[in-house]
Amino acid sequence: MTTIEKRNTLPSEPPGSFGLPFLGEAIDFVVSNPQNFAKKRHQKYGSIFKTSIFGQPTIFVSGIEACRFVLSNENVYFQNDMLPNMKTLIGSSALTTQTASIHKNRKQILQKLFSRQYLNEQTETIQAITQNYCQRWEKLGKFAWYYELQNYSFDIAGKLFIGEDFASSSSLGNLYKIWSEGLFSFSPNFPWTKLGRALRSREKILQQLEKIISQRIKINNIDRYQDALSLLLQARDEDGNSLSSIEIKEQILNLLSAGHGTLASALTSFCLLLAKNPEILVKCRQEQQQLNLSSSLSLENLQKMIYLEKVLKEVLRKIPPVGGGFRKVIRKCSFDECLFPKDWQVIYQISLTHQEPSLFAFADTFDPERFNSINQDSVESYIPFGGGRRRCLGENLARLEMKIFAAILIREYDWELTKNQNLKIVQTPFPHPRSGLKVNFKHI
Ligand code: HEM
Repeated sequence: MTTIEKRNTLPSEPPGSFGLPFLGEAIDFVVSNPQNFAKKRHQKYGSIFKTSIFGQPTIFVSGIEACRFVLSNENVYFQNDMLPNMKTLIGSSALTTQTASIHKNRKQILQKLFSRQYLNEQTETIQAITQNYCQRWEKLGKFAWYYELQNYSFDIAGKLFIGEDFASSSSLGNLYKIWSEGLFSFSPNFPWTKLGRALRSREKILQQLEKIISQRIKINNIDRYQDALSLLLQARDEDGNSLSSIEIKEQILNLLSAGHGTLASALTSFCLLLAKNPEILVKCRQEQQQLNLSSSLSLENLQKMIYLEKVLKEVLRKIPPVGGGFRKVIRKCSFDECLFPKDWQVIYQISLTHQEPSLFAFADTFDPERFNSINQDSVESYIPFGGGRRRCLGENLARLEMKIFAAILIREYDWELTKNQNLKIVQTPFPHPRSGLKVNFKHI
């Protein structure tokens, strides 16, 4: 057994309860949502505890050291894991499901999409889509923003990854919605269940992607496009072979999914937190006035928006779109007297780590200024994009999208929350107010 211990006592299973036979504590996990489930047990047992979800023994970890232990030992003690329906729906040849050397190779290939040069070329496209949506919202005047932002972020993903305009309102967008409803479900596979419907949609999405690929190959014009699909069609693996057709399609499906719900959640939280903290919105506007930049949002101009940068960082600390990540123990190990038996599931907690008062003082307060002087421990505990080998592939794109959206909004628009709505945060699939964030929206 490999042991990484902080103290000299023999390790044993972490504190916690396995709950009922077979179900374990799954009912509470599903009903009270993963974040509240973890919070309650964190208060009772501390930062590492065990539970069982549908018969799967699981260890939750939070805090800087325990998360670092999990994130830095990918392929050594841990490997990526996910909910069973998610695995089935994404497929086995997408980046999120690939492991070890194949994962490393594909991540290197895909990383080209998020280089500075590539992102610079995308700023105009993202700006144009944002301006279009703002004009639509101005006409609507009153709407539930979260659902609009889901379409908005899917349109950007569709354009950047497969070159499709208005993807959210196409048949691909409709199929994708049904597919994504199955992702976080625990439903069994019958034709009428969420999983059954999502699997049928998956087949149709793959067929549509096949058509797009054939068209590109037919006109022999793969490299004319500057998107993920074109990159994948030209990519070669370690042995110099092209990627298989099913892998290319699954990689695209994975990118569409990873890059869309997370972003919609982050932008919704930005709009909510600024509406609730008008003094911060005023400071954002003052920064824009002081900078007095041209209307073009180049990467260079965006980098000058230092205060806005801190606001967006704080949005991701306070309401991280991804609450945590799943791993499987591939080799027995231990940490801080706690044993991690082989084949157990591990969930590292981003949201609980961001709420740790010793790392983030007054963690409940939305305070962008906390990033003015932040110590090394807090820097390392700030993990909205995860860490280690599985760190978010799209981090730079996500930050760019958030900044363009935020800059356009604070320069040109005003919004207020409508009365009598339920702003309690629902965590699944991604955090958002239960009401969908209803606002009145207008040009300044
Ligand atoms: C604010 C927005 C986003 C947040 C907060 C976020 C967060 C995360 C986190 C925490 C992980 C690691 C999960 C784990 O450790 O299991 C992750 C992985 C990933 N993200 Fe993001 N993400 C965001 C946007 C995006 C975008 C725009 C893309 C674009 C394609 C993207 C693509 C991915 C992919 C492909 C992975 C898997 C990486 C791997 O397995 O190596 N994400 N993301």
